[in-house]
Amino acid sequence: MTTEETIETPLDPVGRPMPEFAVPSLLANHGPARVIAMCNQKGGVGKTTTTINLAAALAEYGRRVLIVDFDPQGAASVGLGISPHELERTVYNLLMERTAVLSELIRPTAIPGLDLLPSNIDLSAAEVQLVGEVARESVLARVLRPALDDYDVVLIDCQPSLGLLTVNALTAAHGVLIPLECEFFALRGVALLIETIEKVRDRLNPRLEVDGILATMYDPRTLHAREVVARLKEAFGSTLLHTMIGRTVKFPDSTVAAEPITTYAPTHPGAIAYRQLARELVARGDAA
Ligand SMILES: Nc1ncnc2c1ncn2[C@@H]1O[C@H](COP(=O)(O)OP(=O)(O)OP(=O)(O)O)[C@@H](O)[C@H]1O
Ligand SMILES: [Mg+2]
Repeated sequence: MTTEETIETPLDPVGRPMPEFAVPSLLANHGPARVIAMCNQKGGVGKTTTTINLAAALAEYGRRVLIVDFDPQGAASVGLGISPHELERTVYNLLMERTAVLSELIRPTAIPGLDLLPSNIDLSAAEVQLVGEVARESVLARVLRPALDDYDVVLIDCQPSLGLLTVNALTAAHGVLIPLECEFFALRGVALLIETIEKVRDRLNPRLEVDGILATMYDPRTLHAREVVARLKEAFGSTLLHTMIGRTVKFPDSTVAAEPITTYAPTHPGAIAYRQLARELVARGDAA
């Protein structure tokens, strides 16, 4: 006689079976890096929060990670404890000066394994100054190349625009992660973003792929948020990542503390979600 057991398969927030993402094994060697652009021209959707916390989670799993702050607002730099107006030399100098040396501009952070190429308001001038450059769309790809062997993952935190800086990020990248805030207008502008990605793939960077759509600021208690993620599943299928990031004030709190949530509140569901995102991306082959 056998007893029938009902094993409840865990489901993700849109009702798909939730795989168990294994803890990635430690890497014996580092590099070459996979470059991921965090991109959405809509502001405030969680690009910077995802860049910092995904990077910190990957570093916890022993990955060597470089964050490229590619927003003149310098939010990723601030979020890691660097005040951008005190910086003399940033990613801007790397883009504009032939003699700038990448390794001299990269800084370690308080998180072991996580380095930062900082940015500040100087970068806003690059958008205009790059226009006259030869191969203006691939300047970032060229200047990052010397660092790729030293890292497993490079995350580029884009500004909320589809201008020349973002096109540079897409040209330097292997993959794009698109954070979408779980609210009614989440899908607005995504068609234009996908079109831009496709143009960059056709004309500049044939290897470029969309790694995933990440639902952020998800509140499962509201019908509205559940409807939004159901629509994201319809629109994007398996490109919509299983991992979704809940809405919690711990994220703005950890920004004020200038730390990733993974160290600021290591056992908080927000920290757990970003670790799961790291494992999901490794399992999908989108990160080392
Ligand atoms: N899951 C979340 N829950 C609650 N607040 C969040 C969450 N993710 C991000 N935030 C907050 O929302 C605001 C915008 O987030 P973030 O800066 O990461 O977005 P962004 O897409 O980088 O914005 P921008 O387009 O201005 O660069 C920040 O104050 C951040 O702390
Ligand atoms: Mg940002």
